[in-house]
Parts: sequence; structure tokens; C-alpha cells
Amino acid sequence: MANAGLDAKTIEIVKSTVPVLEQHGNAITKRFYEMMLSEVPELNNIFNQTNQKRGGQPKALAATVYAAAANIDQLENILPVVKQISEKHKSLDIKAEHYPIVGKYLLKAIKDVLGDAATDEIIDAWAKAYGVIADVFISVEKGMYEEDAASEGGWNGFRDFKIVRKTKESDVVTSFYLAPVDGKSIMKHKPGQYITVKATIPGQKYVHMRQYSLSDAPGSDMYRISVKREDAKGDYSDGIVSTYMHETVQEGDILPISAPSGDFIVDTKDARPLVLISRGVGLTPVMSMLEEVTRKQPEREIYFIYATYSSNMHPMKERMEQIATENKNVHMTFVYNKPLVEDEGKYDYKGYVDEALLNKLLPTTDVACYFCGFEDFMRTVSDSLKAMGVKEEDRHFEYFGPQLGMSIA
Ligand SMILES: Cc1cc2nc3c(=O)[nH]c(=O)nc-3n(C[C@H](O)[C@H](O)[C@H](O)COP(=O)(O)OP(=O)(O)OC[C@H]3O[C@@H](n4cnc5c(N)ncnc54)[C@H](O)[C@@H]3O)c2cc1C
Ligand code: HEM
Repeated sequence: MANAGLDAKTIEIVKSTVPVLEQHGNAITKRFYEMMLSEVPELNNIFNQTNQKRGGQPKALAATVYAAAANIDQLENILPVVKQISEKHKSLDIKAEHYPIVGKYLLKAIKDVLGDAATDEIIDAWAKAYGVIADVFISVEKGMYEEDAASEGGWNGFRDFKIVRKTKESDVVTSFYLAPVDGKSIMKHKPGQYITVKATIPGQKYVHMRQYSLSDAPGSDMYRISVKREDAKGDYSDGIVSTYMHETVQEGDILPISAPSGDFIVDTKDARPLVLISRGVGLTPVMSMLEEVTRKQPEREIYFIYATYSSNMHPMKERMEQIATENKNVHMTFVYNKPLVEDEGKYDYKGYVDEALLNKLLPTTDVACYFCGFEDFMRTVSDSLKAMGVKEEDRHFEYFGPQLGMSIA
């Protein structure tokens, strides 16, 4: 791969102008999305409108292009990051023909923001560099689409599924069981993976895509997702898709979903103690891991730590307790920070998951850790595990937003 045929002059121009683009990063990104989404409005069906308003994803895309450009003569360095992003792209059915559109508006935005400083020579060099970077993504994604199409029960793009069961799990979380309308087999997901739901909501101008982790063990003839109703925050209205799922979607309804994607996957070849830590609806991927590992590795020690406010906000509590009762090597800990009076005796710790608690619960730091929850929770867990000496390669996490928009050490 190396520099994929770029000449030395182009490489030099691109590398020397990366800092300038980074410096104007926000302005370029803003201009890029403004122009692209108004001139190619159908892309509003793909990009998450809420993330656009909040700014996480937009920064992630442009920052990755700059990081890739800084490595333009050693593109193999960025392959692990590309693979992670490409999982998200695949779940959204991003296609090769989308790349030139993004490239066109990125260059237009660079030109717009930098003005005369963006000479023809600089723009040409960036056009070539973007083409090379895009080709890396396109080829990684091509491989992923081919693999899905060739898998037993696999598919590309979106496939219609019927809601066969809708079950309330807590005051705010509801599960949906999805079976394929065509009645054929479905791809076995890897525990921790997610699917994308394509929601066509009456009254909404565009369709909305959202990811939901598969919350059950793999291998069944249907998938289960568990969705938290996102309430209005401050001046902002209720979550678009989660409210629609809770209030409108009923058993018998059809939802198009993409094939399981994502690299937050539990390694069942590792025999070391497994630590699964989650808060709130972040339990979904780790529940799937818990189900799978207790079946596949019945001897493995598992430390399952679940944090929430109180019992009424605790989804799948009975199932967790059942697993702990049936598997003596599963060490289950419930942490409530606002327990109800009637919760007395039904949880293990009052407060939050922090370093002191993890130190008390984990017998060793040579463990494989997987954690999921909101951003501050994950930062605390990650920092605590790091301070305790858990190696970086053993600290795996999933963030329910633009992954690279958040910074976790
Ligand atoms: C890999 C992955 C896996 C996921 N798995 C799950 C899962 O298993 N279960 C689950 O419930 N969710 C999961 N999510 C999150 C899910 O994809 C959605 O983000 C979530 O359901 C909210 O979508 P929504 O359309 O309901 O809310 P949105 O409309 O996206 O709004 C989200 C929140 O932002 C607020 N908001 C709106 N506009 C603004 C603004 N301008 N500034 C600030 N705040 C604003 C809203 O009030 C709302 O509270 C996952 C996400 C990812 C990326
Ligand atoms: C080289 C070009 C590209 C780069 C470097 C890039 C980078 C990224 C990054 C870093 C993310 C966040 C990943 C995450 O959520 O974990 C992302 C998500 C996403 N990308 Fe790309 N991307 C590129 C091209 C494209 C193209 C061509 C499209 C389609 C037109 C696209 C559509 C999306 C969408 C829809 C998301 C999901 C997040 C959201 O909607 O908020 N990307 N991309």
C-alpha cells in the first residue's frame, strides 16, 4: 500500500498543509456539511441529523481525513482505524459511489474557507490524496460486503424484519424481537455487534438510521434489540427514533435492518477472567456477551458489574440473576446510585462504579474488560482500569455515538 503511487511533491504538499487544515478544522467541516447536505439533500437520509446538530460525527469524519493525510506515505498505519469506521459505514450501506461526493464537497469547503491560500497546486494535491484515502475505505468495505453476502443468512444493505415481540424491560427500556420477513436464515452475530434500523417515520422529511446493539445470544432465528426511550433534553425534543420505537412501532410491523456489524466483540478464545461493565442501556452488547460466554466457556470466571439508578430502571434483572444462580463462576454486582426504599437488599453497592469499587471486585488486573455506557461513565471506567494497571489492549469499549468523536485514553 505505502503511498499508493502518489508523487513526492504531492505528498510533501499534503503533509505540510495538514496543520493548516486542522487549524481551520471546524470551519471547513461546517461548510462541508452545509454545502453537501443542501446540494445533495438525499444524503440527509444517511447522516444522523441529531449528530449533525451536536457536532460529534462531523468532526470525526474530517479529523480522520487529516489523520489519514498525515500518514499518506504509510497508509497501512491507518488500516485498524479504517476497519473500525468501515464497520459503521457498512451498517449504513455506504457505497463506493458516495466517496466522490464527500471528496467534492470537502475540497470545495477547503477552498471556500482558505480562500487564496488554497492554491490550485494545494487543491490538486488534496484531491489526489483524498482519492487514495477513499480507495482504502472502498476496498476494505468491499471486502466486508462480500463477506456478509457469502455468510450463511447474510445480506447487504437493508432487509425487512417483522417485530414478532415487543417486551417492556424497565421504565425506559423496551426489547424488540425481529424475524426476517422472507423466512430465511439470518446471519449469526458476534456478541457485541449492532444492526442499523432504518426508520420511516410519518411526518418526517427524511428516513432516520440508528444503530442498536444485539442484546441476546447469537444463534437464534431472530434478533433482539433493546431500546431506551431518549427523553427531551433541555430545549431539545424527544429522541426521534427511540420515541417512535416505543410509542408507534408494534408487533407485526416491519422494519428494515442492516446485517450485524461492529468490532466490539468478545474474544471467546481468551480464557482469562472476563469483566463486563455497563450502565443504563449500555448493558445491551455485554448481555449478549454474557449469554454467549456462559454457554461457550462455562468454566470462565466472569465479573458482571451493572450500574443504574434503581430497580425500576434495571432491565433484564431476572435474567441476570438467573445466569448468576446457574453459573457459580459468574460474579454479579448491581450498583444503584438512587435506590428506591423498596430496593433495600436487592442491590450490592450504593453509588457509582469507580476505581475503589473495581479494586474491591476484581481479583487480578490480568483480565479482558468490555464496557459500555454514556461518555462520562466510560471515561471513569477506562481511567480506573488504566490506573489499576489493566493493559490498553484489554480495555474494550463501545460508545453509543460517533466512536471517534469521543476521546478515551
Ligand atoms: C454502536 C451503537 C450501538 C447502540 N446501541 C444501542 C442500544 O442497544 N440501545 C439503545 O437504546 N441505543 C443504542 N444506541 C444509540 C442509538 O443509536 C440512538 O442514538 C438512540 O436511540 C437515540 O436516538 P433517537 O433518534 O431516539 O434520539 P435523537 O433524535 O438522536 O436524540 C438523542 C438525544 O439528543 C437530544 N438532542 C437533540 N438535538 C440536540 C442538540 N442539537 N444538541 C444536544 N442534544 C440534542 C435529544 O433530546 C435526545 O435526548 C447505539 C448507538 C451506537 C452508535
Ligand atoms: C475517506 C472518507 C471518509 C472518512 C475518513 C469517514 C470517516 C468517518 C468517521 C470517523 C465516522 C465516525 C465513526 C463512528 O461513528 O464510530 C464516520 C461515520 C459516518 N460516515 Fe464516514 N467517512 C468517510 C466517507 C463517508 C462517505 C462517503 C459517507 C456517505 C456519504 C459517509 C457517511 C457516514 C455516516 C452516515 C456516518 C455515521 C455517523 C452519523 O451519521 O452521525 N462517510 N465516517
